Amino acid sequence: MRVEKQAEALAGRWTEAELDSRAACSSEAIAAMHLNRRRALQSAGSLLGGLGLACVTDPRLRAAQRAGATGADPALADAVSLADLEALAHQRMAPMAWEYVSGGAADELTLRWNREAYERLRLDARVLRDVSHVDTRIELLGRQLAHPILLAPSALHRLAHPEGELATVRGANAAQALMTLSTMSSETLEDVAKASAGPLWFQLYVQKDKGYTAELVQRAEAAGYEALVVTVDTPVDGARNRQQRAKFHLPPGVEMANLRGLKSASGQKLDTEHGVFANILPPLLTWKEIEWLQSLTRLPVLLKGILHPDDARLAAKQGVAGILVSNHGGRNLDTVPATIDALPRVVDAVGSELTVLVDGGVRRGTDVLKALALGARAVLVGRPVFHGLSAGGAEGVTQMLSILRHELEMALALSGRARIADVDRTLLFG
Ligand SMILES: Cc1cc2nc3c(=O)[nH]c(=O)nc-3n(C[C@H](O)[C@H](O)[C@H](O)COP(=O)(O)O)c2cc1C
Repeated sequence: MRVEKQAEALAGRWTEAELDSRAACSSEAIAAMHLNRRRALQSAGSLLGGLGLACVTDPRLRAAQRAGATGADPALADAVSLADLEALAHQRMAPMAWEYVSGGAADELTLRWNREAYERLRLDARVLRDVSHVDTRIELLGRQLAHPILLAPSALHRLAHPEGELATVRGANAAQALMTLSTMSSETLEDVAKASAGPLWFQLYVQKDKGYTAELVQRAEAAGYEALVVTVDTPVDGARNRQQRAKFHLPPGVEMANLRGLKSASGQKLDTEHGVFANILPPLLTWKEIEWLQSLTRLPVLLKGILHPDDARLAAKQGVAGILVSNHGGRNLDTVPATIDALPRVVDAVGSELTVLVDGGVRRGTDVLKALALGARAVLVGRPVFHGLSAGGAEGVTQMLSILRHELEMALALSGRARIADVDRTLLFG
């Protein structure tokens, strides 16, 4: 409610009746989420299709208010920032899962820098500009999106919630956010696609077994995924010391559902329930394999994990649709730079040819704004998805995304920019 008041103040032009009707709308949306899954999905579908959507995604409709409207979970309703959701998730997530999600590689310097680099950047705000209609819409790979905040691919959402990625996708749909599903999801890509009323991308870990990789790509294409995000920064696992100390293993009921039936390098059937990730990562992934992948699919291919401008140039030469500037959330090679620091030189190298996206450390609307100012077309969030999911299931994911989107809207208005197209490097101070 506190944030709602801020929003009202910002808008300063809503009548009481308008506010009341929007509040009613939000109760409806949240009530829908408490129905059984099928009905909730139908409800999400109709919300996305019609008038309801305007309610759920209204810029000033606060997720906190939404949860508060039902009184279902006061702690969730009180969370007004991503940090609040993270603290709640810490209380609610099993300790081993928490270590797996939160940890980075080795001394976690890159993990820390991802945040610090955003904190160092300052905004150069302008005033007395018409920001009466703030518009967060963007076009990405030919698709209109309501806002530039996407879900990064991450493994095993059942670690955070029994409904795993099925809850995540409902939460993403309600917040009009595009979701990228991981190869290592705990629900199958087909089930997630069936549960989704919004656009999806599929993240691909190329498997040593080429036939299986081709099959995964075909399955994703057949299920309606709109792009293939090929992760290229993980030829081996990083030194995940925190994960090791926590003796991370897959708990009962959590498996890599897409990889059932995959054989390990030694030809054994892979144990998708207990297998360690190292068993399934490809020993060899080069530009040749990217070319092979492009020949397999009509989907646009994006490369995830580019930090160096020369690699970005090679990607452009290879004819991929886009790249994602990422250091895997600081989980792979410790001491590579923060992604927001790596972004500008990549954008300078290929920004005019390729769609450039960024992830890593995005926790505030002002971070989104800074990434856009430095040339990213959109941002992706990783750990905050687990935090929302663990704090409140689908509702928590919606709340996390709504907070971020609302903060972006406030940041746009307060910096004197009404549209995403108005955002460029002049928005950064110094
Ligand atoms: C628990 C966890 C699991 C992840 N699993 C994958 C994955 O399966 N595939 C992938 O490409 N990236 C994976 N990532 C990396 C994310 O896609 C993303 O790059 C990173 O989380 C962004 O940083 P952030 O968590 O600070 O937002 C994972 C990240 C986390 C935290």
